[in-house]
Amino acid sequence: MSVVKSSVLALAMLATAPVFAAVTIDIDPAKPGAVINKNVYGQFAEHLGTGVYEGMWVGPKSNIPNTRGWRNDVVGALKELHVPLVRWPGGCFADVYHWRDGIGPQDKRPSNVHTNADGVVEIDAINAVGTHEFFDLIDMLGADAYVNGNVGTGSVQEMSDWVEYMTSDGGSPLARLRAQNGREKPFKVAYFGIGNELWGCGGNMKPEYYANLYSNYEHFLWAPEKSRPKMIASGGSGFDTTWTDVLSKELKDRTIGISVHQYTVPTGNWDIKGKTLGFKEGEWISTLANTLKMDQLVKDHVAVLDKNDPEKKIGLMIDEWGTWYDEEKDAKSALFQQNSLRDALVAALNFHIFHEHAERVPMTTIAQMVNVLQAMILTDKEKMVLTPTYYAFQMYVPFQDATSLPLAIKDNTSYTLGALTIPGVSASAARAKDGKLYLALVNTDPSNAVDVAVNVAGTELQGAAGKVLTAATMDAHNTFQNPQAIKPAAFSARAAGDKLSIKVPAKAVMVVALEE
Ligand code: AHR
Repeated sequence: MSVVKSSVLALAMLATAPVFAAVTIDIDPAKPGAVINKNVYGQFAEHLGTGVYEGMWVGPKSNIPNTRGWRNDVVGALKELHVPLVRWPGGCFADVYHWRDGIGPQDKRPSNVHTNADGVVEIDAINAVGTHEFFDLIDMLGADAYVNGNVGTGSVQEMSDWVEYMTSDGGSPLARLRAQNGREKPFKVAYFGIGNELWGCGGNMKPEYYANLYSNYEHFLWAPEKSRPKMIASGGSGFDTTWTDVLSKELKDRTIGISVHQYTVPTGNWDIKGKTLGFKEGEWISTLANTLKMDQLVKDHVAVLDKNDPEKKIGLMIDEWGTWYDEEKDAKSALFQQNSLRDALVAALNFHIFHEHAERVPMTTIAQMVNVLQAMILTDKEKMVLTPTYYAFQMYVPFQDATSLPLAIKDNTSYTLGALTIPGVSASAARAKDGKLYLALVNTDPSNAVDVAVNVAGTELQGAAGKVLTAATMDAHNTFQNPQAIKPAAFSARAAGDKLSIKVPAKAVMVVALEE
């Protein structure tokens, strides 16, 4: 069956799906909330599996079309996402990475075998992607750099030298070395992370010990005032707020953010996480229910920050989030996983939570950008496929730097299966930089469409237009053989009289501009 025929069939099936009674969304544009920092849509690129090598970097001599080694197809697709920020080189990899291995002529760089504390072995045969190559990618994407330094196996001197190498503007031996290596001007390091997961792979530390180490490291990270990176402390994992508490008390004025990592594991059990594809509805709802826990997690950490940092100088940086499934037996590389419609809903539900907490959550980076965990893009040698998560990020581009608008959902549906019940509709609204009012909607119910009546105070809405992402099956996904199986479709609705009603299909993500 052709792709067109199967899409028509899928839409026909969706049109005949039962529709629940109206949910109402009231938006008051006269009461704007915080600006949604574009860095909430940041990405994480780690030297792990084929996340960097092959996924993005193929080297200048490759037959795969590239620009100075970076794949043209992948970079082109990422540009469409307006990627604001890239965190690099890890992750756990950051704490085994020695930056001097990645500078100078490529044929003279050493090869490394890195084993991190989680037992993941990374063979970096050529160290081809180092500091200069990373900033080349950043420049091509028009993104900011979030460089993560090595506390675990590094030293204060090594980290201090790296920051000096990247940021000093002349005179110093390290600035001269940078110039010899082809870069006269300093690089712009917008953010610098001091270690990663110090409670685990970064060194198995206690928060008090790390707070002291952080102060020591940060003290020696000299950089000219105008190019000094903003420093980020590596915090705890999940709901444990101990690290946030200790670090926000101890590191006042020494950090602009404390990171936290929170992954969505369908079963909630790290030993048997759940399947990537072919899962039952029970794992659909548990995945979404576990994702929605992000809201409580943010509230818990923010409550601690509000207590210790009432001036709101410290942000909560969720610099690893996304789905983590059981690795397939024949996975092509470490942490490579397929990505389905379910992942798009996970992304969208997280976006709504981040928007709601925009005041305290100025940055998140999804794990990860290409070929690792909840990726935007999957590659297989010269082939590339865009995932449903890619499309979610693309649809939400207008929310970058938009002003959030509070909304009220009345008569919301609920979706229940077994012992689990979650809200049927999740929504988020914002006034974007283009002046338009955008509304994002998620229908978590995999079987029932829902009518949503939309009211904007003081305005008679004319209609809505945008994109919807849905499919006939919960695990719809794109493959190298069928790369267009799931992608967003155009959507529009006209108001009848003074009423605007939007029919959101079952299991869908929708973003529309409201016509005021
Ligand atoms: O994203 C994969 C790994 O998960 C990262 O390296 C680490 O920080 C986390 O445990």
